[in-house]
Amino acid sequence: MTERIPLLIDTDPGVDDALALLMAFDDPNHDVVALTIAAGNVGLQYTVANALKLCEVAGIDIPVHAGCEGPLLHPTPDASYVHGRDGFGDIGYAPAARAVDQEHAALALIRLSHVHRGRLVLVMLGPLTNLAVALKLDPALPQRIARIVVMGGAVTGQGNTTPSAEFNIGFDPEAAHLVFEAFERIEVADWEAVMAHGFPHKDFERWLKAETPQARFYDAISRRTRAWATERRGERWHSADALAMALALRPDGALEMADRPLAIELQGSLTRGATVVDWQRRGGRPDNARILQRYDQARFEGMIRAALGAG
Ligand code: BDR
Ligand code: CA
Repeated sequence: MTERIPLLIDTDPGVDDALALLMAFDDPNHDVVALTIAAGNVGLQYTVANALKLCEVAGIDIPVHAGCEGPLLHPTPDASYVHGRDGFGDIGYAPAARAVDQEHAALALIRLSHVHRGRLVLVMLGPLTNLAVALKLDPALPQRIARIVVMGGAVTGQGNTTPSAEFNIGFDPEAAHLVFEAFERIEVADWEAVMAHGFPHKDFERWLKAETPQARFYDAISRRTRAWATERRGERWHSADALAMALALRPDGALEMADRPLAIELQGSLTRGATVVDWQRRGGRPDNARILQRYDQARFEGMIRAALGAG
């Protein structure tokens, strides 16, 4: 039997983070060694509480480390209009019995990169603040990481929060800049790939009827966001973090990837937080991003169904 691959997930749950986490918990080839929690979709006290609750619902006992309370430099509005005030659809769930780990997320990232040197896969589902702090403390960290997958960006400039910025990058552009400068190659599932990999709400609603604690809980916490999304984007449901997780767990499901230089816009009055991809390689910088273009849709949907226990 081959050894399971250690996975560290940095996340700001968040409704679509929750689906991605259920996919990772369900995967037989990976061990989730810890969750490090970012502020983003909503404030840190909520994202931490949501992560703990989701672990409880899924029956998973792993350390949950709280990270930074906000972006490195500039305060940014959250996404509670999408995910609910508490980030989990305001269903009023009973708080998890378990408590958060005392070690800061950035320190946990560094420690676990030593414990699993050369094997650890990082999956980044929120703003990149915790990892940026870890990189400042330990610039050699990338050398110990096997792969890093980031949900973030809008690679041809079609953002989801401002015209050109995607939420995770736009929330903390300075952190994203530090991260994209530090790693030799980052696998990116951007917002535009997410828009190309939606699946029908009516299928998803069927999967949510599975008689499992995961499906029941997810049905409840996502109801409000699904209603919002239906009104705004029509009959398909788009789960950004789930697509990034599919790429992390089953990279062979990626049918097309493009390697290019990618940089973060920090200044622009219209474009701050944009991920500027040098598609024509005009600037002479090395390719630092491997950008997901197309993922096997049937495989993606199969992983989601399995995570919900919908067979
Ligand atoms: C990303 O922003 C958040 O709202 C989601 O959880 C996802 O990580 C999509 O832009
Ligand atoms: Ca997220």
